Amino acid sequence: MTDAHSHSTHDTLADPRNDTIMIYVDGAIVPKDQAKVSVYDSGFMLGDGMWEGLRLYEGEWAFFDDHMDRLFSACKAVSLDIGLDRDGIRDILDRTAAANGMVNDAHCRLMITRGRKAKPFQHPHLSQWGPTIVAIVEHSTPANSLQSRGIRLATVPQVRGLPHSQDPKFNSHSKLNCVIACLQAEQAGADEGLMLDPHGFVNTTNACNFFIVRKGAVWTSTGDYCMNGITRQKVIDLCHANGIPVFERNYSLYDAYGADEAFLTGTFGAQTPVAEIDGKSIGGGSGAGPVTLRLRDLYKDLIARTVAAQKAQRG
Ligand SMILES: Cc1ncc(COP(=O)(O)O)c(C=O)c1O
Repeated sequence: MTDAHSHSTHDTLADPRNDTIMIYVDGAIVPKDQAKVSVYDSGFMLGDGMWEGLRLYEGEWAFFDDHMDRLFSACKAVSLDIGLDRDGIRDILDRTAAANGMVNDAHCRLMITRGRKAKPFQHPHLSQWGPTIVAIVEHSTPANSLQSRGIRLATVPQVRGLPHSQDPKFNSHSKLNCVIACLQAEQAGADEGLMLDPHGFVNTTNACNFFIVRKGAVWTSTGDYCMNGITRQKVIDLCHANGIPVFERNYSLYDAYGADEAFLTGTFGAQTPVAEIDGKSIGGGSGAGPVTLRLRDLYKDLIARTVAAQKAQRG
């Protein structure tokens, strides 16, 4: 939800139907007020789980295979056995959407944790009943204000970590690093935190990937230290396919402050314009600039083509 002063990249139009949605929890699809997991759950106790955010278009989960590639890789890396193949996951998502009568404008948070523990301690072997699988699918239309006003970013002291501490590519339940960054941004009077890498180069925001546009060229970080965002990769691919110069490179706040446009990417909001960084207005400080708008159109078209292809493939 949004108020007059602040918003986030995940603001949605108010939808009272979300009060009574049906949620998938470990094999059952139950009303929201009955959707519960144990206080002994590994995800609740330790943040020991992985999640994916997916969007539903025309009854298809856009870029489903990309999401499953990321999820299965992350779970393999932390020895979390999902116990299902990707068709099994798709069946859960489809059944949950169907139980809610959803075909479009829906967003799923799929969560897989190591399961319920025998005792309230850290050791993974204590997670004896698992995994725990939950799929929350909500009616979701990004708020118009995100496009018209843009997001205000503040650079925050919290940085992205090196991969040998907790690899930022893990979409883990524990998002404390990002939550701290978001709190710092909020305390600085902004909507979302712009995070630097350990060397001081601009990296990403606490919830989305970050791009700037300078003289018609699109720049984003090298990809080290940030989430391997699916929307990020689609935008890079679209630039290559449509003759828009794109660079994955190190750059500093100096380059970001002087950008003609800046935008965020994520499954939820696709491409969201940035209005200001640290109080400095970007591209006039309002809605999306011309390159961002062009990429939005190309991305919409890509979704339509992908969804049609996925439908045809499934027969
Ligand atoms: C920290 C962070 N960055 C970026 C993203 C965007 O990734 P995607 O485009 O795959 O939704 C996410 C979403 O999970 C995220 O948590």
